[in-house]
Amino acid sequence: MNTQALAVHDNGPEGVYLRGSGAAREWWRVSLSERAHMFRIEHGHGEAGSGAVDIDTVVDLDNLEAKLLKWRREGFVSEAGREDEARAVAAGSRFAMELERAVELQREAREANRSVQPEAVRIGSVAMPPAPERTPSALVPRINDAYLFTARADDIALDIVENRRVMLIGHTGSGKTSFIEQVAARTGHGVLRANMNGQTTIGDFVGFWTVKGGETVWVDGVLPVAMREGYWLIIDELDFAEPSILAVLTAVLEPNGRLLLKERGNEIVEPHPSFRLFATANAAGAMSAYRHLYQGANLLNEAFLDRWRVYLFDYLSKEEEAEVLLRTLPALMPSIAQTLAAIAADCRAAFAREDLASTFSTRRLIDWAELMLRTGDVERAAGPAIYAKVSAEDAALIRSIIRHHAIFDAGDGVSG
Ligand SMILES: Nc1ncnc2c1ncn2[C@@H]1O[C@H](COP(=O)(O)OP(=O)(O)O)[C@@H](O)[C@H]1O
Ligand SMILES: [Mg+2]
Repeated sequence: MNTQALAVHDNGPEGVYLRGSGAAREWWRVSLSERAHMFRIEHGHGEAGSGAVDIDTVVDLDNLEAKLLKWRREGFVSEAGREDEARAVAAGSRFAMELERAVELQREAREANRSVQPEAVRIGSVAMPPAPERTPSALVPRINDAYLFTARADDIALDIVENRRVMLIGHTGSGKTSFIEQVAARTGHGVLRANMNGQTTIGDFVGFWTVKGGETVWVDGVLPVAMREGYWLIIDELDFAEPSILAVLTAVLEPNGRLLLKERGNEIVEPHPSFRLFATANAAGAMSAYRHLYQGANLLNEAFLDRWRVYLFDYLSKEEEAEVLLRTLPALMPSIAQTLAAIAADCRAAFAREDLASTFSTRRLIDWAELMLRTGDVERAAGPAIYAKVSAEDAALIRSIIRHHAIFDAGDGVSG
């Protein structure tokens, strides 16, 4: 039995075999004969079943298989095979069309990327558009190469791209202000800051009338200046702000929110597309439990907080802080950096427990390490960097924490 010939048919040899098209169409039809194990074969021209049949005979299976082989050599294809072929051609061209479109989309994406990529600045894994070039460089913070963008950077960077209002809450010295400044430094944005703890009045913030050379003139506060010029405004320690300042802010907090200067006859200040608004707070929201550590901090209500994306900033982990120390002061040994980071962590824990009245910022830690490298003396370095800044009781506790670590973790190398 010739299996090769039968392999053409999935469901046995019955069916129509066609060659040519139109007037040149020629066909063979195979059907089961009334006689057992025999096949009827018919031949004709034109459409099968409509034109005249010029051959009509009965063959056995061996004979039929020989005919199938011969027909195949002559270019006859079974109807089912033709349909398969037509389907394959159609599917093939659809696939090709889709692939062509995909290639085009990919090319467009690459080109769009190329036009953003060269100047785009990477913060974590987010590509951020740079500032317009006209920003006065004096307002653009200096880049701190040792600054470490941790995992939290991505979400905040995306919020900045999307023009969300971002509030960073956390203990003092946890890197809230410097985070925003370092993103601004890298993207080239000018930054204005307003600290709400004490000094800033509504006049400083919004603006005021004053007399200059016999004339009454309006002086914009930081908020309208930043909005008009497209600077980033950091409102530091917002939980210390006067209610009048919070009231003014509320209107501006909407995306593209405008500022109404009532004092200037209801002038409307439109936000520049580059304008961004940030706030930092010590004791707001999730940090409310620490309000007793920040005397005078106000509770920001939830409706106000809902206008912000609020991020909780913890101090850097010991590992991260050791890395920042090593990046800042490459001469420092890793083991020393780890010991210093552990001391800072212990001091912060004591502050959170209220055993210490002062906390321990990364800035203080770096300063102490720098002096340590100059003097080779832990205690002498701690004087101007730490002890002289805190109460006598705090100094005594910090000294005992340092002694503990310097003696038990790092050996004689750094002990004072
Ligand atoms: N991720 C970091 N990488 C490097 N230095 C940091 C980092 N976070 C904080 N610092 C340093 O810690 C110090 C205090 O940060 P700062 O932004 O002033 O804190 P906050 O605004 O929360 O009080 C700064 O000198 C800053 O350089
Ligand atoms: Mg700050």
